[in-house]
Amino acid sequence: MSVEIKVPAKAILFGEHFVVHGSYALVSSVDMYLYAKAQQSKKGIYIESNGRQVKADYVLSLIERILEGEGAEIYVKSEIPPGAGLGSSAAFHSALVLASYALLGKRPAPDQVFADVMELERHVHGNPSGIDVWGVLYGHYVLFKRGESPRLFNLRPVRVGLVDTGERRSTKDLVKAASDFIANSPHTRAMLELSSELATEGLSSIRAGDWIRLRYLIRANQSLLRIIGVSTPKIDQLAATMETNGVSAKITGAGGGGYIIAFPLRCVNGISIRATEIGVAGALELNGFYTGKQS
Ligand code: MEV
Repeated sequence: MSVEIKVPAKAILFGEHFVVHGSYALVSSVDMYLYAKAQQSKKGIYIESNGRQVKADYVLSLIERILEGEGAEIYVKSEIPPGAGLGSSAAFHSALVLASYALLGKRPAPDQVFADVMELERHVHGNPSGIDVWGVLYGHYVLFKRGESPRLFNLRPVRVGLVDTGERRSTKDLVKAASDFIANSPHTRAMLELSSELATEGLSSIRAGDWIRLRYLIRANQSLLRIIGVSTPKIDQLAATMETNGVSAKITGAGGGGYIIAFPLRCVNGISIRATEIGVAGALELNGFYTGKQS
């Protein structure tokens, strides 16, 4: 028995960091993929990612538990750049979990898959909100708030630009620094409310096809992220250059570099912009785990 699994990247459209503290955030899938091929094996569990053996105990023990004593070889190839805000770790962990269940011919409910992937994510990110995982599992557009069921919206895919700042950082460290800033600010509540509003308004704008409003909201969210210290001089400079060319841009994910997301998709002199589509199918749907319910 062998299986093939395909998992998209994710981009946070609105509300990163504040989502950790209970605000709403909007995440979407991105048409950039991680692929896993898995087959049963008599020699225990062997996992390889982009040509390198994965030896981490927390990964091997969870996969062993899912496989109920069966052996497996899992080979992963990823187009998703690591440490860049595009959900490389959520996609990697999701692929391992989905491949293991698929090898046994099982298709557990989304909540079970989410719980397994989160177990892996916590080892890497400390206290992740879970938004990255729903972004790659459900795909399309997901409105997420901690403690509530995620709401999936299967709306039209939108073409956006992605720009690589070339800067890389640790999500865990940035989340900790931003968390301290948010928690100790005299404006915590106001910022959390504003971030939630940007996420829900962003979703309404995509629903309505109100692209002018969407651009304004992206600009406002980038300003808020800049205030909490997760932007960088390079991101500020790129965003300013794009603004003068009619394009709004913001961090996507933890910030501190990585990729920034730009809308509308348009050429800007001197900036290398990768055309991409957000709102594509998520991993559960792509791999036959889920038929696609919608809020
Ligand atoms: C990272 O993609 C998103 C953050 O909000 C962290 C999290 O929600 O776990 C920065």
